[in-house]
Amino acid sequence: PAQRKHASRQRFAADLSQCLYDLVIHLLPTLEELAVKEDVRKLLERLIRTIEPDSRLLSFGSTANGFSLRNSDMDLCCLIDSEERLSASDLVVMLGDLLERETKFHVKPLPHARIPIVKLTLDPAPGLPQGIACDIGFENRLALENTRLLMCYAMIDPARVRTMVLFLKVWSKRRNINSPYKGTLSSYGYVLLVIFFLVHVKNPPVLPNLQQMPPLRSISPEDTHLNGYNIWFFDDIDLLRQRWKSSNTETVAELLIDFFKYYSRDFNYTSGVASIRSGLLKKESKGWVSEHERGSPRERNRLCIEDPFETDYNVARCVTRDGLYTIRGEFMRASRILASRPDRALVAIAQLCE
Ligand code: CTP
Ligand code: MG
Repeated sequence: PAQRKHASRQRFAADLSQCLYDLVIHLLPTLEELAVKEDVRKLLERLIRTIEPDSRLLSFGSTANGFSLRNSDMDLCCLIDSEERLSASDLVVMLGDLLERETKFHVKPLPHARIPIVKLTLDPAPGLPQGIACDIGFENRLALENTRLLMCYAMIDPARVRTMVLFLKVWSKRRNINSPYKGTLSSYGYVLLVIFFLVHVKNPPVLPNLQQMPPLRSISPEDTHLNGYNIWFFDDIDLLRQRWKSSNTETVAELLIDFFKYYSRDFNYTSGVASIRSGLLKKESKGWVSEHERGSPRERNRLCIEDPFETDYNVARCVTRDGLYTIRGEFMRASRILASRPDRALVAIAQLCE
């Protein structure tokens, strides 16, 4: 019976892996969508340059890190290379006016937000059935770097890493636990949970720790630091692909099953901090405690995920007590569905994303 059980588990995992690949392929953005988005970026860059000639408009977030689903929003960051420049909030106001006059976008400038941004949306059109949603921020260089880090992780093992991440994004959106404004976790947070799991929980690891690999040659601290944060990581992916090969041969389905098991059962939410830079840390050692007494207006460190560069920033600070309860409930539900191994993997996926 043990042998039969093992065989059935293997069969289910193989079947599930195939279904995950098939599903994800169909959810990737089309080439046409990517081309339209690149055109939009160029158009916006041209307009911004009429206000700030020395500026560049760069893509970050999912459009730039390889974790993009069809119709995902665009995150853009404006960098200004001149010494004298307008403040971010002045720029937001001026750019808002300009885009209102010159384009078909619906424009919402938010000059007084913690990070001033201009929010844009474009109505659906032929060839663009879902329209476009886009945020433009300024000088957010750390976000550009963390995007590059995630992209490098995606490129080391695209088949397993991208499939896992994209599936989790779909699943978390379908299950309504991907809304930082409503007390649950951002996509960025889920991606960090996956990378943490693949680097630090799996043994042997599926991914190396890019932030702890020795550099090929010595680099001065000015080149490795930004706003006081160490942003160095090993980014020569061609070389890495030649030299680093994971001895972990688990399939994407096995990894996903284990991911749900780990976050429903083993991760210590009370005291643990998931850090992709340093492994599992303690809330206490980071001073990330005490802010979640009952009734405290600033409910913060329920779930702790350390930002890879801004190490004093808890990416999951938006997660409330109820939010965490729901997220953990969803991890358990997913784990239960996968453990029950329904006859066909497709049924499992449909149930997961119900
Ligand atoms: N980001 C960040 N800190 C956060 C949230 C986001 O620095 N607390 C930056 C990251 O660079 C991230 C980008 O903003 O890659 C976009 O975040 P998010 O929208 O959560 O992720 P996407 O991959 O764009 O997911 P989606 O497709 O759901 O928009
Ligand atoms: Mg995004």
